[in-house]
Amino acid sequence: MTTASHTALALDFPILEQEGLVYLDSAATSQKPRVVLDALEDFLAHHNANVHRGVYPLAIDADTRFSAARAQIAAFVGAEPAETIITKNATEAINLVRYSWGPQNVGAGDAIVLTEAEHHSNIVPWQQLCEEVGAELRWLEVDDEGMISLGQLDEFLADGRVKMVAVTHCSNVLGTINPVEEVVARARAAGAASLIDGSQAVPHMAVNVDAIGADFYVWTGHKAYGPTGIGLLHGRRELLEAMPPFLTGGDMIKTVSFEATTFNELPFKFEAGTPPIAETVALGAAVDFISGLGIDRVRAHEEAITAYALSQLQAIPGLTVQGPPLAQQRGGLVSFTLDCAHPHDVAEILGRDQVCVRAGHHCTQPLMKKLGLGATTRASFAVHNSTDDVDALVGSLGNVIEIFGES
Ligand SMILES: Cc1ncc(COP(=O)(O)O)c(C=O)c1O
Repeated sequence: MTTASHTALALDFPILEQEGLVYLDSAATSQKPRVVLDALEDFLAHHNANVHRGVYPLAIDADTRFSAARAQIAAFVGAEPAETIITKNATEAINLVRYSWGPQNVGAGDAIVLTEAEHHSNIVPWQQLCEEVGAELRWLEVDDEGMISLGQLDEFLADGRVKMVAVTHCSNVLGTINPVEEVVARARAAGAASLIDGSQAVPHMAVNVDAIGADFYVWTGHKAYGPTGIGLLHGRRELLEAMPPFLTGGDMIKTVSFEATTFNELPFKFEAGTPPIAETVALGAAVDFISGLGIDRVRAHEEAITAYALSQLQAIPGLTVQGPPLAQQRGGLVSFTLDCAHPHDVAEILGRDQVCVRAGHHCTQPLMKKLGLGATTRASFAVHNSTDDVDALVGSLGNVIEIFGES
């Protein structure tokens, strides 16, 4: 995992065997290492049965593997398995909190604090809740370097009306790593609950849910080298116990009679229907893959590539990088605009060179408005990237400037 060149590590990702492919879109979804693909196939080929039901050996085996994977995923982020709820993705995890916790805890005249840099997944559910109950949103501003102000958070919290502070751990556009421990501590001291969106953090930096102390912490498997179809909600037991079920039906019940239903214990109370069994097992393999590399080495590797990318991109005339100036303040992604070309044109021309980047509003339209932009181009990094990939990006941007620069 050196930063100097393509390394043997790339060989662990079958898709990267495609000649010339430069994948710089891991913030949208990560590529999958062979160990994860193998775990998925192995489960489906040799251990597949439904969970929580069968008494025959194959079903017991599936159940054991599913439970072990949940425990492994929970341990990876310092959480308890019973407080680790499996959802479809991060979006569903946030919606679970919005629909189950929200109406019982947020009412008319209350407030919810968000940052201006949230993904739509951590905006729309709260906006809808506020509309429903007559509460208001308060927006923590991001400054010119993509940072939020804890002083402004204190101001928002001062009147005691804030019931929830929902903040991204790492912005998917600016890259900013927010001071989530401080945010959570201040929210708690003011009597507000907290939710941290760790979708862009968990695969890239050491995350300990227990140490962060948030009431809710969410992330998504497909950005963490795992398959699509699995997300995680880690919640504090007292809150989860007090919350009503989100979705109802099979598996989340203890008893059902013609008259009424009692609910299952945690975490199953929030997992209606057949869960993503093979996906959970494969995500277990994914976190094992990250642990095997060492999350601190992963962070150091991606930070070094980000620092290199910042220096190379900032040297390009007419290119503006969004977000914090230093790699230490950022996750492994860089969003930028070019004076001479629209971000979509940039991404398309890069695509012709097999340099895969994302262009658009990145599901952060309020942030784009704040920045005065319609869109940016974003390059994002993962363990398989090297400085060669940044060089390919910069080289391909040269082609963009050649095409658009004179016009
Ligand atoms: C910061 C952030 N939060 C939430 C999400 C939503 O993740 P999912 O689509 O897997 O629910 C994303 C995905 O881009 C994200 O970047």
